[in-house]
Amino acid sequence: MLQLVEPEQLRSALLAWFDRCRRDLPWRRTEDPYEVLVAEIMLQQTRSEVVATRYEGFLDRFPRLDALAEARVEAVEAAWSGLGYYRRARNLHRAARILAERATLPASAAEWAELPGIGAYTSALLASRCSGEASPVLDGNVERVLSRFLASTEPPRRAAARRRLLATAARLLDPSRPGDSNQALMEVGSLVCRRARPDCGACPLAPGCLAFRSRELDPRAFPVAGPRRAREVRHCFTAVVQRGGELLLHRRPGDADWLAGRWHLPTVELASGDGSVRAAEVLGRKFGGCWACEEPAVMVRHAVTYRDFLVRAAVVRWRPEPATAGRSSLVWFGHQEIDELPTSSLLRKTLDSVGVNRADPPLHSGP
Ligand code: ADE
Repeated sequence: MLQLVEPEQLRSALLAWFDRCRRDLPWRRTEDPYEVLVAEIMLQQTRSEVVATRYEGFLDRFPRLDALAEARVEAVEAAWSGLGYYRRARNLHRAARILAERATLPASAAEWAELPGIGAYTSALLASRCSGEASPVLDGNVERVLSRFLASTEPPRRAAARRRLLATAARLLDPSRPGDSNQALMEVGSLVCRRARPDCGACPLAPGCLAFRSRELDPRAFPVAGPRRAREVRHCFTAVVQRGGELLLHRRPGDADWLAGRWHLPTVELASGDGSVRAAEVLGRKFGGCWACEEPAVMVRHAVTYRDFLVRAAVVRWRPEPATAGRSSLVWFGHQEIDELPTSSLLRKTLDSVGVNRADPPLHSGP
């Protein structure tokens, strides 16, 4: 770290700012490791405003580690509803079962990282908050704060740049309050060192920040962008099959590369020029029975990180083969039951696009 100010001074300024300005969020009012674990898993991929609407309800339902460990995974997934990325709920449940068997909680980032669903970032954060370890974290906010602080000309995802940012984060950690130091850096990123409108006048790190201190630099130029990953386009067909007030769903495999473990409408991947006849054939091969499109398909676009799914969806009639009836992986659910299942925003989006919603009478009857 090119030293404009003693690290010690910056550490104290950062913590003093955090004590004065931090948002009063429910997961900041606890030091209970179980409650911290639940919060940090929720916060991995969900914004804090959304987590704030679900966190306390989840803890009411599973107030302690052993309550979570003893629960059925379906109940945990149901309590996770609204947070998305349900794989996290299943991993949290597995982690709770592992921890409930042990006499003590993990004592270091390395031990936290042995649990399912806990990678480098979350293990460091948990170790700093629950085990008192001075392990620095880099999330998107911290990457931005420290790239500006160092006026780094390297994209933060590069290994060498990451090492430098992590070393800087480590020097800004107060060993007597490592969890608060990590949260303070993240909070500076959320509230002050914002992407588009940094408020340098309010920043506790400004005295040591190279982007701020240099007259020629604009903090908004950092972090510098890396090469963009090429987007991948995938073509799919989704069948909306109805029977009375029910819909036919399928639980996607836990290792699928999208919508893993989620309940979704029967969906197959196709080549770009394939039409409805080909879609019916592929549906038959994947799920069994006889499939026939009833209406023209509508296009639903769904972007997941660097992938664009171009999904054609249509109301379809399905006739199970008598031999496979009752053994199919497809299951009928009422709309209210669907609200309790781990699904995805794509399910609602698809039903809206084809004009099916819970208030509608069924368009077509299945067998
Ligand atoms: N992002 C994830 N966990 C956080 C925390 N505890 N404080 C601030 N931002 C966070």
